Amino acid sequence: MLRFLTAGESHGKGLITIIDNFPSGIKIDEDFINEKLKLRQSGYGRGARQKIETDKIEFLSGVRGGYTTGSPVSFFIKNKDYENWKERMDAYKPVPEETKIHIPRPGHADFAGSLKYGLDDIRNVLERSSARETASRVAVGAICRILLRNFDIDFSSAVVGIGDVKIDADNINLFDGDILENIKRSELRMPDLDLENSAKALIDKMKDEGDTIGGLITAQVKNLPVGLGSFTQWDEKLDGHIAMSLMSIQAIKSVEIGLGVRSAFISGSKYQDSIYYNDNPDNKGKAKGFYRKTDNAGGIEGGMSNGEIISVRCAMKPIPTLMKPYLDTVDLNTGSPQKAFLERSDVCAVPAASIVVEAALAFSICYFFLKKFGGDSLAEIKRNYFAISRE
Ligand SMILES: Cc1cc2nc3c(=O)[nH]c(=O)nc-3n(C[C@H](O)[C@H](O)[C@H](O)COP(=O)(O)O)c2cc1C
Repeated sequence: MLRFLTAGESHGKGLITIIDNFPSGIKIDEDFINEKLKLRQSGYGRGARQKIETDKIEFLSGVRGGYTTGSPVSFFIKNKDYENWKERMDAYKPVPEETKIHIPRPGHADFAGSLKYGLDDIRNVLERSSARETASRVAVGAICRILLRNFDIDFSSAVVGIGDVKIDADNINLFDGDILENIKRSELRMPDLDLENSAKALIDKMKDEGDTIGGLITAQVKNLPVGLGSFTQWDEKLDGHIAMSLMSIQAIKSVEIGLGVRSAFISGSKYQDSIYYNDNPDNKGKAKGFYRKTDNAGGIEGGMSNGEIISVRCAMKPIPTLMKPYLDTVDLNTGSPQKAFLERSDVCAVPAASIVVEAALAFSICYFFLKKFGGDSLAEIKRNYFAISRE
């Protein structure tokens, strides 16, 4: 079973990640991983932290001579900002009373986390609950994608809304050449460059007001075989696993598959994706085999991939750290009313989150891909994969 664990604090020395049960023989493309890490750090609306960090992966184990060995793959991503936090993050030095934080920020893990672990300094919670952890997840997703590329499985994502500036993206194909080009050119990773300007204006307004804003993300994966995941047990369902992967990303508040929430508003005859068979490979540009004309189900039926593009949509809430004292809170030591403290923060991190969503989706797909085609080495997986008829 493919799994991964991460450790590390936002201002600690760095992030450590272990990926277990990753097969041997995968040629590691470090540039591809670092490119994804860089994308996670970019985007209009991000704060000063991203100017300090230039995330790079450093493998510690499980990769030798450029290929995975089958042993646990572990890697380190350094926090450059640690240089500025050495004293405060020291493993042994006592924490001075006056530096301890006891005013929880609403919308963060601060309140429940410090009560749960009995901590008298909220920094012990916020350092780990921070979205800095998503750098690890992006690298894991990139490593999974390097494996899946051997089978032409590809991923894409876009920002389809910032606040109320929304793109009509119900039937969007994120692999379309023009759309891909626009996403690449857009500082917000938006496929519609006119709407991008309105979205930037909204982010500027939020920044001036010391406020923050969220948005909508769509991510897709194409060229999947039929039958990843299973209908036989609740925890074997592909859509359930994807929901867990994506919902566990900081600030993601909804996960929709296909039409998602919108499926509640249309009739069955219009929602279901009728099934067709193409026995002439030249016909309609479709490969020989089964296909659909619509993809309202988002490529998943009965907890399994059905061979169509898997399409997910997530809502990201507005970032909880605000630059003006809008939010009421209390001092956990005294119960006295307070205003939430101000910390260096992003105004909008939806473009960065779209890269995290794409990566988390890649992990879920890779998990079920290995479950179905399993194997200790790439050669073994290829034997299993190509032995199954894909028509
Ligand atoms: C890429 C990314 C960047 C984020 N940047 C910030 C930030 O700068 N400031 C902040 O307060 N929250 C930020 N968040 C959101 C918080 O980490 C998140 O809201 C918090 O950990 C509480 O988790 P929850 O919203 O899932 O309940 C970011 C989230 C993501 C995915």
